[in-house]
Formats: sequence, C-alpha cells, structure tokens
Amino acid sequence: MSPLGLDVGTSRVVLAETAGNGASEEYKYLSQLNAFVRIPYSRITENILRKEGVPYSVHGADLVIHGNESERFADLLGREMRRPMRAGLVNSTEPESEGQLAEILASVLKDVTEKGRKITFSVPAPPLGATDSTAYHETAVKRILNELGFEAQSLNEGLAVVYAELAESNYTGIGISCGGGLCNVCFAYLSVPVLTFSIPKAGDYIDANTAQATGELATRIRITKEQEFRLGPSQPDKLHQVIASYYDEMIQALIEGMKESFRVSKTMPKLGRPIPLVLSGGSATPGGFVDRFQKAMGGTDFPIPVSEVRLASEPLYASAKGSLIAALSEA
Ligand SMILES: Nc1ncnc2c1ncn2[C@@H]1O[C@H](COP(=O)(O)OP(=O)(O)O)[C@@H](O)[C@H]1O
Ligand SMILES: [Mg+2]
Repeated sequence: MSPLGLDVGTSRVVLAETAGNGASEEYKYLSQLNAFVRIPYSRITENILRKEGVPYSVHGADLVIHGNESERFADLLGREMRRPMRAGLVNSTEPESEGQLAEILASVLKDVTEKGRKITFSVPAPPLGATDSTAYHETAVKRILNELGFEAQSLNEGLAVVYAELAESNYTGIGISCGGGLCNVCFAYLSVPVLTFSIPKAGDYIDANTAQATGELATRIRITKEQEFRLGPSQPDKLHQVIASYYDEMIQALIEGMKESFRVSKTMPKLGRPIPLVLSGGSATPGGFVDRFQKAMGGTDFPIPVSEVRLASEPLYASAKGSLIAALSEA
C-alpha cells in the first residue's frame, strides 16, 4: 500500500500517487476544485449526476455538487460557488465548512481507500505578522482524513515545494507556492525548514480587488486571468492593467516578506553559495511571471544570494508531489 500526498488548497485539492510499479519516479495527480454549489433536489438530476460521475451529496431538499462541476453549475445558474476554505484555512465561522470539505476530500480519495493507508497533507504557515493559529485547520483536516480511514500527517506547504523541486540542491533553497488564498514561503537548509511564512495576498486578492476597481464580477476576473492574462511590458486594456497592478502588489509583498523575515531571523546559516528559488501554484502560471518576479527582486537589496529563479516543472502539482515525497520517505 503505497502512501499518498495531498495538497489541501483554498482553491483546489490535489492528490498525488505513485504511478506504475513504484520503481521509477513517476507520479500521477487528481484534482478537484475545493468548492460546492447547492441546487434543489430532483430524482432525475441525481441519477444523471451519478451516471456522469459528478461528485454530489444529498442534504435535505438539496443536491450539493462538489468539485470541478460546481464551477459550471454556478456559472450556468448565475451564482457564486461556495468554498469550505478561506485564506488557506477551514472557515471556522461557517458551520457547514468542515462537512463540505469532508465531502470534497472523500470524492478525491474515493478510489484509494484501503484502511490505514498513510497520507501526508500540506498545511499553510501562519500569515506574516498575524497571530492567528493554523492549529484548528490542521486538526480539522486530520480528523476528516482519519475518519476516511487514513493515517494522516501534515507538512508545511512551502517545504512541500522544496521537496518537489530542489532535490538537486539537497533540499536547500526557497520554495514558494502562490495559490488562491495565500502565498506560502519556505526557506530550507539541507531539508530543514529554517523559515516559513505566508502572505494573504494571492489569486483571490487579485480577483476581489480587480473586481472592485472595475465593477466586474470576481468570477469573470478569474476567468480572464486564467485564460488570457500574461505579465508583459504592456497590457491590452484597463482590466488587464488592473490585474497586473495587483500581481505586482503580490510580488512586492512576497519579496518584502522574505527580506523582513531573513533580516529578523536569528537562525540564518551563513550560506556558502547562492541558493535556488522555485515558484509554484496556480497564481505563478501566467506567462512572464518568473521574469517579473526576478526583476522585482533585482531592484532590491535581497539579503541572500540567489542562484536562479524558476517555475516548478508542474506548478499546479508541486505541493501535492512534495507531500507524496515526504510520505514516501517515511514509508
Ligand atoms: N492558468 C492560470 N493563470 C493564472 N492564474 C491561474 C491559472 N490557473 C489557476 N490560476 C489561479 O491560481 C489560483 C489557485 O491556485 P492553486 O495553486 O490551485 O491554489 P490553492 O493552493 O490556494 O488551492 C486561483 O487564484 C486561480 O485563479
Ligand atoms: Mg496550493
């Protein structure tokens, strides 16, 4: 029974498993949107959802559609999708959240449910400067996975990116995941996380603020951003310019966050050589992002020498892959 890796993100849940015989370093991935939408129950709809393999559950007089299909239904019915997580964490003020997250995790994991299987799941670092604890979130996810029959262990999300991408530098370097709710950063030295933090400016922040500035719906902004946006020297119109300006704000906040944390950290080793920095997550995928990030860093007195800035080989899967690598190393 080989172990599993799971990235529990605000926007998406990604499962990583070893593919084939386990001898080669091959992984396969399965992802679902971490979202749901409620529609009135009807027998015929339920039958069709089952036939199509769409994850759903029945709640009283409603059908709740989970995961990837929730987006299309929300769009067709002119509603917003709802989400069990906000800013990287289970939304503890919304009583339905934990139950909905449990349904979504169950649907992602439905084909791998041998009892007692080991699973490593990613958790965010607390936001920089905030005192909020991530313990509630971690405990909730662990409980859900235990109830589904897994033996669950958590892993910092930035460290997962380091495990996924920085084997060649013996897990020394900076791993960053730019997601929907948060950007997570981990500086690791020989696989030991020396410094971890998150910032609450990420994809959702870009969508919400662009929506407010332009009077469009956040969902529309997200679709534009995902389908055609790139960070270049110029933008075709006002909407794209606004998206770019919030992207720049996110990049600045990340760089300032790293500078500040490195400055105040007492545990920084004196590094013998420059270290690599890897970017991952959905919000790092637009064309030109790495260039923009590198230019923004170049303009500052970044406190440690960086050998290269690059995009993860599979940006959407890096956290899940790193979680799987951690799980495999314990097996
Ligand atoms: N091709 C793309 N171009 C730009 N942004 C994208 C793209 N794909 C996903 N995103 C954005 O990335 C964010 C989700 O990233 P993801 O790594 O899945 O997040 P999380 O870890 O928070 O679940 C969302 O804000 C989404 O709009
Ligand atoms: Mg993520």
